Amino acid sequence: MSSEPVVEIKDLVAGYYVAKGFRSLFKKFTPVLRNINLTIYRGEKVAIIGESGAGKTTLIKIMLGLIKPRHGEVRVLGYTPYSLKRREKRLLAKKIGYVPQDPSRSLNPRLKVRRILYEPLEALGIDGEEAEKRVFESLKHVHLHRAVLDYYPDQLSGGMMQRVLIARALVHKPEILILDEPTSALDVSIQAQIINILNEIYEKLKPTMITVTHDIPVAQYLAEKAIILYKGEIVEEASFQEIIENPKHPYTRTLIQSYTLPVKP
Ligand SMILES: Nc1ncnc2c1ncn2[C@@H]1O[C@H](COP(=O)(O)OP(=O)(O)OP(=O)(O)O)[C@@H](O)[C@H]1O
Ligand SMILES: [Mg+2]
Repeated sequence: MSSEPVVEIKDLVAGYYVAKGFRSLFKKFTPVLRNINLTIYRGEKVAIIGESGAGKTTLIKIMLGLIKPRHGEVRVLGYTPYSLKRREKRLLAKKIGYVPQDPSRSLNPRLKVRRILYEPLEALGIDGEEAEKRVFESLKHVHLHRAVLDYYPDQLSGGMMQRVLIARALVHKPEILILDEPTSALDVSIQAQIINILNEIYEKLKPTMITVTHDIPVAQYLAEKAIILYKGEIVEEASFQEIIENPKHPYTRTLIQSYTLPVKP
């Protein structure tokens, strides 16, 4: 394991500006994340775990530079993601692969898979044979046949859509792979398929892999370290063995209890 930090967050406060009342023009800052301190090292496989509304997607958007922190410092691969010039933005975008939360809403229904996979490469100035090579490699990583290039998203099953999104995140060979609830929209059998594909990708490409989930078993399959987010704060950060054997925060205990509860016959 490397000791080079790829994500460094210090004393972060972040949230959204929300209208104070119905039809109000005045927007008030509503914090979602508070006192976040987090370091993720190169090659680590971590899971950010928390219930709905805990701020998981917001934390990812901070790493992607889509939200500006209200307070604190954020560094991703040495860049300050929310305040980059166009050229630097492209350089950082090349290094991060992002699979957003809801597969069916994340794919443009009017574009064939071919365009979905080529577009991010073209945006980075990669075309021709090199682009084709990257697209074919990415399809291979997610076990999809080249025939899907001619499909529209509505011709794909949920699992295939998710695989296309993973392939799209891989086309530019990212150093960091960020997955927001990669299995939550899928049936259990398909969840296992996606988990296996992601673990294969990790073994082959060794990216820093950050998975967001509300599901402890999924987190355990996809990560070595758990970061527990509760109501916008990191309440625990440890290996799965540690948090299962000795959970410190009451929320972690609830998570672990519900997970290990025996199933009634
Ligand atoms: N664009 C936005 N404007 C205002 N509030 C928002 C916005 N996006 C999220 N929120 C609020 O911020 C809080 C955290 O949202 P976030 O999406 O980060 O949670 P999450 O942990 O990803 O939840 P889920 O598991 O449901 O995806 C929620 O209360 C949500 O309503
Ligand atoms: Mg979310």
